[in-house]
Amino acid sequence: ATARWSRSTLLFLSRQSWLKDRATRVRSLRRLSRRFVAGETQEEALAAAKQLNARGLWASFDHLNEAVRDAEETREEVREYVRLLARIDEAGAQANVSLKLTQCGLLLDRALALENARAVVAEARARGSFVRVDMEHGAVTQATLDLVRQLHAEHGESHVGAVLQSCLRRTEADARALCAERVRIRLCKGAYLEGPDIAFPDKRDVDACFVRCMKVLLDSGVYHGIATHDERMLEATLEHAERRHLPRDAFELQMLHGIREDLQQQLVDQGYRVRIYVPYGRHWYPYLMRRMAERPANLAFVLRHLSRG
Ligand code: FDA
Repeated sequence: ATARWSRSTLLFLSRQSWLKDRATRVRSLRRLSRRFVAGETQEEALAAAKQLNARGLWASFDHLNEAVRDAEETREEVREYVRLLARIDEAGAQANVSLKLTQCGLLLDRALALENARAVVAEARARGSFVRVDMEHGAVTQATLDLVRQLHAEHGESHVGAVLQSCLRRTEADARALCAERVRIRLCKGAYLEGPDIAFPDKRDVDACFVRCMKVLLDSGVYHGIATHDERMLEATLEHAERRHLPRDAFELQMLHGIREDLQQQLVDQGYRVRIYVPYGRHWYPYLMRRMAERPANLAFVLRHLSRG
């Protein structure tokens, strides 16, 4: 119960934009953010991916900026991603991009978000790359899947894909539907605060749903990503793949920058495809707080440092 309360508090704080400026000034939090975020600039993110690639790991970049204020700022995000895709291509990096629809303007104007996301996917297609559309809080699940379906219809499975969160009650049905439509999925547990009406309050149910969805994904014949650091989830995944005689390149495992690097390397050494999510940018506050919420014991640390800022 205490862990659940701490998680909720940290996730509540992650959504308080007034705290963002304060937090980014606190040196100890900035230092901590560097564990989870590759840096503030594209150069730093590319350098991090180069190191990952050298160790046999692939990357997916995320330019952090969830709180865009106007249409111009969303267009700046598109320019950032277009430059990023060009630099990945020129560097020959093993990397693709992850994009949030709120950063494309989903909460401002849905048509604008579609237009912006479409521009990023078109650039990815022109460069033979791929855009993973991250999944955000429950209020935008349906809108996000609608837009991904539209982009998938226009550009095909090789250039755009979705994310599903096993914490949501709807996810198993979404997984079956998207697999039937051949949409590539990244399966994760979900990092946002959701109510019991739409999400499983009990972690055991989230994990059980993860395993059921993982099996739907691996049995579908579509190329998916299984995103977790949970050794039990990973074990279940590798066991299922083995039982189905799937080759090791039929799917990929995905983890976050700065978390369980030992495990990342171990899986690559065993011949699995492992992709690391590499976030970068100045607006790291909500991302850092979601990572803190995954370890609820972090609450006291965060509160102590925020209050000093
Ligand atoms: P769980 O939280 O049970 O953790 C299992 C173990 O992993 C822990 O015991 C610990 O060892 C380690 N661990 C996990 N988080 C840690 C942390 N912050 N610090 C230190 N150790 C930690 N979510 C979402 O809602 N939308 C999205 O689009 C994405 N995208 C995404 C991409 C990728 C590549 C990954 C790996 C994850 C996401 N997520 C996400 C986040 C995801 O929903 C989830 O919050 C985290 O992955 C943590 O869940 P685990 O599956 O790791 O299990």
